[in-house]
Amino acid sequence: MESKTASESFIIMNELVLPNDTNTFGNLMGGRLMYWMDIAAGIASGKHCNAPCMTASVDNLSFKNPIKLGNIVHIEAQVSRAFNTSMEVHLRVWGEDSLHQYRYESNEAYFTFVALDPNGKPRKVPALIPETAEEQALYDGALRRRQLRLILAGKMNPDDASELRALFFKS
Ligand SMILES: CC(C)(COP(=O)(O)OP(=O)(O)OC[C@H]1O[C@@H](n2cnc3c(N)ncnc32)[C@H](O)[C@@H]1OP(=O)(O)O)[C@@H](O)C(=O)NCCC(=O)NCCS
Repeated sequence: MESKTASESFIIMNELVLPNDTNTFGNLMGGRLMYWMDIAAGIASGKHCNAPCMTASVDNLSFKNPIKLGNIVHIEAQVSRAFNTSMEVHLRVWGEDSLHQYRYESNEAYFTFVALDPNGKPRKVPALIPETAEEQALYDGALRRRQLRLILAGKMNPDDASELRALFFKS
C-alpha cells in the first residue's frame, strides 16, 4: 500500500449560516457545526484511504467565538496521522464576515476515522507522510493524543501509554 502525503487529504468546506442553523441568540448551533465538521473530516479521511470511513471518536471541542447568522463557516480538514486502520483528522474552523471582510477563529479539533472493508470491518490504511514543519508537529503529537483518547475510551492501559507518560515522567 503506497504512502500518501498529508496535503493530499486537505479539503476546504464552506457553509452559509441560515436561520434554520441558528440558536435563539442568532448564532450557529454547535450541533450543526459538529455535523459539518464530521462531514469535512469524513471527506478528508476518505481522500487519504480511498475507502468508506466511519467516525470512531471526536476529541474535546470548545468554541472560541460564536458564528453569526449570515456569516460563512470555513472549515479546513487534513489527515494528521494514519495508524493501522484509523486516521486522525485535524480540523480548523473560522467564521467569515464577507461584508466587512474579516475572519474569526471558531475552533480546532481532532476527529478519528476508521476505514472499513466491504464487510464493515476495519481495514488497513496507507501511511501518511508529513512534509511541512507544521504537519510534522501534528504528526508527532498525534501519538500522544491517540494514547489519551484510547485510555479515556477504556481501550488502552495507561501503563502502556509510553508517549503520554513521557510528557509527565522524565526518565
Ligand atoms: C469505530 C469502530 C469501527 C472500531 O471497531 P472495533 O471493533 O473497536 O475495532 P478495533 O478495536 O480493531 O479498532 C479499530 C481501530 O479503531 C480505533 N479505535 C477504536 N475505538 C476508538 C476510539 N474510541 N477512539 C479512537 N480510536 C478508536 C482503534 O485504535 C483501531 O485503530 P488502529 O487500527 O489504527 O490501531 C467501531 O467501534 C464502530 O463501528 N463504532 C461505531 C461508529 C459509528 O457508528 N460512528 C458514527 C457515529 S454514530
